[in-house]
Amino acid sequence: MYSVLDIIKLRKSVRAYEKDKNISDKDLNTILEGARFSQSAKNIQDWKLLVVKERETFRQLVPACKDQSFIADASCVIAACSADTDYLMTCGQPAYTVDVSIAVSNMSLVAAELGIGSCWLGAFFEDRVKEVLGIPSKVRVVAILVLGYPAGKKLSEVVTTTRKDVKEIVSYDKWGF
Ligand SMILES: Cc1cc2nc3c(=O)[nH]c(=O)nc-3n(C[C@H](O)[C@H](O)[C@H](O)COP(=O)(O)O)c2cc1C
Repeated sequence: MYSVLDIIKLRKSVRAYEKDKNISDKDLNTILEGARFSQSAKNIQDWKLLVVKERETFRQLVPACKDQSFIADASCVIAACSADTDYLMTCGQPAYTVDVSIAVSNMSLVAAELGIGSCWLGAFFEDRVKEVLGIPSKVRVVAILVLGYPAGKKLSEVVTTTRKDVKEIVSYDKWGF
């Protein structure tokens, strides 16, 4: 039985996938539930998740995503968008980027629990992605989540990237960095 922290540690960016392996509808729906049950500012829930299963579309997305060629071998690609982008929180941050990012993060964790690898993409040309996927101009694409089974290994065998020491990222009581 995994704890939440176990899953957080299990998730890694996977950039090489088992070709032609599909994610079952059951698993895909479970991953999407991870988004649907995410928190959002004022509970707006303005997640527009465009799920792409067509392999030909993956190939078209490669140049739109700065030639990140591993996308072509994905099992599924989710363009995580928002159509309601006006609300600025009191703190000054736009709610939609935060809300969509939480949903993407949760989906990546649910995927990890299912042994499915993912890679969050921020390196993409939004206009070109919109053109490929027929996304209206007023909609913003916050992130692209690429999903697939790690090539030739289990997710637990994918190498973990380094993390900063806790002292570098945490300060108590007063700003101490
Ligand atoms: C906002 C964001 C944007 C990212 N963009 C890309 C990307 O375009 N291409 C890519 O291969 N990885 C991308 N990544 C993955 C990071 O490089 C990765 O999370 C980081 O190196 C830590 O490794 P890990 O995910 O294996 O723990 C992105 C991650 C985040 C959170």
